[in-house]
Amino acid sequence: MDKNLEIAALISRAEQDIKNAASVKDLDALRVCLLGKKGELTGMLRSMGSLTPQERPAFGQLINQARDEIEGFLSTREGTLKEKELAERLEQERIDVTLPTQLPRLGTPHPHTLVLNEVIDCFVGLGFEVVEGPEIELDKYNFELLNIPKNHPARDAQDTFYIDENIVLRTHTSPVQARVMLERKPPIRIICPGRVYRADEVDATHSPVFHQIEGLVIDKDVTMADLRGTLGAFARQLYGDNIKTRFRPSYFPFTEPSAEVDLTCIVCKGAGCRVCKDSGWIEVLGAGMVNPKVLEDCGIDSSVYSGFAFGVGVERITMLRYGISDMRWLYEGDERFLRQFS
Ligand code: DAH
Repeated sequence: MDKNLEIAALISRAEQDIKNAASVKDLDALRVCLLGKKGELTGMLRSMGSLTPQERPAFGQLINQARDEIEGFLSTREGTLKEKELAERLEQERIDVTLPTQLPRLGTPHPHTLVLNEVIDCFVGLGFEVVEGPEIELDKYNFELLNIPKNHPARDAQDTFYIDENIVLRTHTSPVQARVMLERKPPIRIICPGRVYRADEVDATHSPVFHQIEGLVIDKDVTMADLRGTLGAFARQLYGDNIKTRFRPSYFPFTEPSAEVDLTCIVCKGAGCRVCKDSGWIEVLGAGMVNPKVLEDCGIDSSVYSGFAFGVGVERITMLRYGISDMRWLYEGDERFLRQFS
């Protein structure tokens, strides 16, 4: 075949093949076949040896033109293919910014925290200050200064975790009273929330670790009426205006007189039900007038000052506040339970 025709045929076939190349990779393969060292065009160039010297320059020029043309086809096609491949990739990687995302899981305040905050708000509103004390406590503060000497029967009522002879895990928040009285001069108006420990088995109403809020007021002319007024305000804040308080005589070594304080049953509103054992009342705290012996032992002149104190179980008032029947729910961290308080 005439060499010129051969080149023309190669160009037109190359044009067709290049147009049909489906990817940049196919195109690279074609480039090698057509223009590479062992490619077709190079092969033709080599065949120049069979031409006469006069024919060679024109033929060489033709080959060069063919190379230019084929390179032109290649680069046009490459441009198109790259664009197409980019478009495809963008389509594949496309992000729908309107899709609703998965929200991060937010925690919720524990019911205990909610109640504690309410109680603190109430007492801060009445002019009290929040004070904390250590959970690992000296026997001296936990017992001695509260008029509970060694061998006092009241020690049996509180199954104590002893660390050694003189150090305990505090069994109540009352030791903070002693610490504050020793540190400050009256007037004193404090509440002390915190964790306390007793060697109790876990059940629906007991836990070896629980929480109390201690209250203490020391000033001139503080009376039982102040205690009643304060606890009444506290009960109404937590459970509503229709809640009444009832004081029953009781005994605590650190108060004299002492009382156990009941609230109108939150469940039956006083009518009588299973929760209040048909009495219409629920016991929620211990309280009383600070025993003059305690005042004196803590450096406060009992002929000038008097005071009242109270201790509330936080779990108990939280359970009553939200109708929680088993204390273990408060500790287990089950999200299905906790979410209900968000
Ligand atoms: N500390 C007592 C307890 O844990 C509760 C208590 C009773 C505290 C009477 C007081 C109080 O301040 O006056 O059982």
